[in-house]
Amino acid sequence: PLSGGGLGPLLCELQFGSLLVRTQTCLHSDRLDGAADFLVYGSFRSFRDFSFVICCKTNFFSTRDMLTHFLPLIKAGGRVVNVSSFVSFRTLNNCSPALQQRFRSEDITEDELVRLMQRFVAETQKGKHKEDGCLTTLSMIQARSLSKERPNDGILLNACCPGWVRTDMAGDKAPKSPDEGAITPVYLALLPPGATEPHGKFVSD
Ligand SMILES: NC(=O)c1ccc[n+]([C@@H]2O[C@H](COP(=O)([O-])OP(=O)(O)OC[C@H]3O[C@@H](n4cnc5c(N)ncnc54)[C@H](OP(=O)(O)O)[C@@H]3O)[C@@H](O)[C@H]2O)c1
Repeated sequence: PLSGGGLGPLLCELQFGSLLVRTQTCLHSDRLDGAADFLVYGSFRSFRDFSFVICCKTNFFSTRDMLTHFLPLIKAGGRVVNVSSFVSFRTLNNCSPALQQRFRSEDITEDELVRLMQRFVAETQKGKHKEDGCLTTLSMIQARSLSKERPNDGILLNACCPGWVRTDMAGDKAPKSPDEGAITPVYLALLPPGATEPHGKFVSD
């Protein structure tokens, strides 16, 4: 459908970890000129199958590394979509009031968020899903930074939840097909030129 609409999407499968080389390979391929219109990302390792440390690394730290390299390459008018989860809000509500206040504050910085996450990893090896909440918070911080640092570029960055989708993560009993799960991320990726919102929001269904 995207090709039919005059768009030529290029799927870049990035293995977070060796990502700089892969990012540059993708962006300097024949199809791109070193910049990208869209970035839709959502990697996930489950506590069910992987160690706590690997999950935190994949779901938060490596994703953040990827964004550090990729965000500056998004063209003016670009769209950035973090495929996150409604679980992030449940997790946030379970944090201490002080932590919730920091996560929800308008002045939390990326460095502070990383420090909070590093402390969380060091202090507890048994918490679950908190990094999901951190990743959604990271989107809010990055949206504010884009508005400040590239005010005229009209880039819209949002986080979203695809709903329960029949993938490896949710299994075959989940109600949505992968196509249905793609509706919200694709909506955010194709927000029309000139749109000014949503930006820095969490969008679901
Ligand atoms: N499915 C749902 O019901 C649901 C609900 C809420 C939110 N989400 C969100 O939707 C996004 C996609 O989830 P999904 O349902 O497609 O989960 P999934 O079936 O478990 O797929 C996760 C994907 O992440 C990739 N990945 C893991 N570590 C990576 C790394 N270091 N570098 C690059 N890719 C890596 C995996 O690659 P490999 O194939 O190589 O392992 C896999 O393709 C996630 O952010 C998840 O939180 C899904």
